[in-house]
Amino acid sequence: GDNFFGQKDLAGKKALVTAGPTYEPIDPVRFIGNHSSGKMGLAIAEELARRGAEVHLVLGPSAVKTTLPGIYVHKVQTAGQMYDTCMAEFPSADIAVMSAAVADYTPVETAPEKIKKTSGTLVIELTKTKDILKSLGQLKRDKQLLVGFALETANERQYALDKLASKNADLIVLNSLNDEGAGFGYDTNKVTIFEKGGNELVYDRKPKQQVAKDIVDRIVNILYV
Ligand code: CTP
Ligand code: CA
Repeated sequence: GDNFFGQKDLAGKKALVTAGPTYEPIDPVRFIGNHSSGKMGLAIAEELARRGAEVHLVLGPSAVKTTLPGIYVHKVQTAGQMYDTCMAEFPSADIAVMSAAVADYTPVETAPEKIKKTSGTLVIELTKTKDILKSLGQLKRDKQLLVGFALETANERQYALDKLASKNADLIVLNSLNDEGAGFGYDTNKVTIFEKGGNELVYDRKPKQQVAKDIVDRIVNILYV
C-alpha cells in the first residue's frame, strides 16, 4: 500500500463507492429488492481507505458496518436516491466503483396506503431506473477512473465487454456465478477484470477482502502507470 516515498498509494484521492441492494417501495410496507449483501462493496471501500483515499460509501439497505476512519457512509434506500447522491459526489471524485446491485425497475407509483388483497391478479407497473454507472460514464473527465461490475448467467465475457464500452468504464469486474449457482450470500468471489486497454485478468476464487485488494491494485496501476 505505500509508494516509493513511503506515502499511502491513494493519499489525497477521493473515491465514491456504491454497495448493497436498493429497495423500491410498492406501498408503505412492501418493496422490490434483491439479495445483495453489500460485502463486496464494503471490502472495496475499506481497501481504498486503507490505502489512504477519502471514501464516500453510498450504501443501500444492508447490515454491513464499518469502523475504519476515512469512510463516510451515505445511507440510501432507492435507486433514485443512490443516483442523486452519486451525481452530487462524482464531480469531486478521482475514483468511482459501482458495486451496488441497483434495481433496474421501480414502481411507477407508490401506494400511499397498504395495498389490500382483492380477488384476481395484482399488476404493478414498473418504470426503468436511471443507470448510475452509465450516467457517470457520460460525465467522466480524463483523470477520473470509473469501475463497474457485471453478473451474468450466459455469454458473460461478451456482456462484460459490452458493458465496458456502453458505460464508458475503465474497468469492469465480472463476477462469476458460484458452483451452486447463486451469486449472493457468499464470502468469496471469483472475478475476471476487463480493462479498457484490452487487458483481461482472470483470478481464482478467494475471500472478498482479497478480491478487493486485486481490484484496488488494478485501480492504482491504471492511475499511476
Ligand atoms: N448499475 C448502475 N445503475 C443502475 C443499474 C446498474 O449503476 N440503475 C451498475 C451496477 O452497479 C454495475 C453495472 O451497472 O456496476 C452493471 O450492472 P448490471 O445489473 O450487471 O447491468 P445492467 O446495465 O443493469 O444491465 P442488465 O441488468 O440488463 O444486465
Ligand atoms: Ca441490472
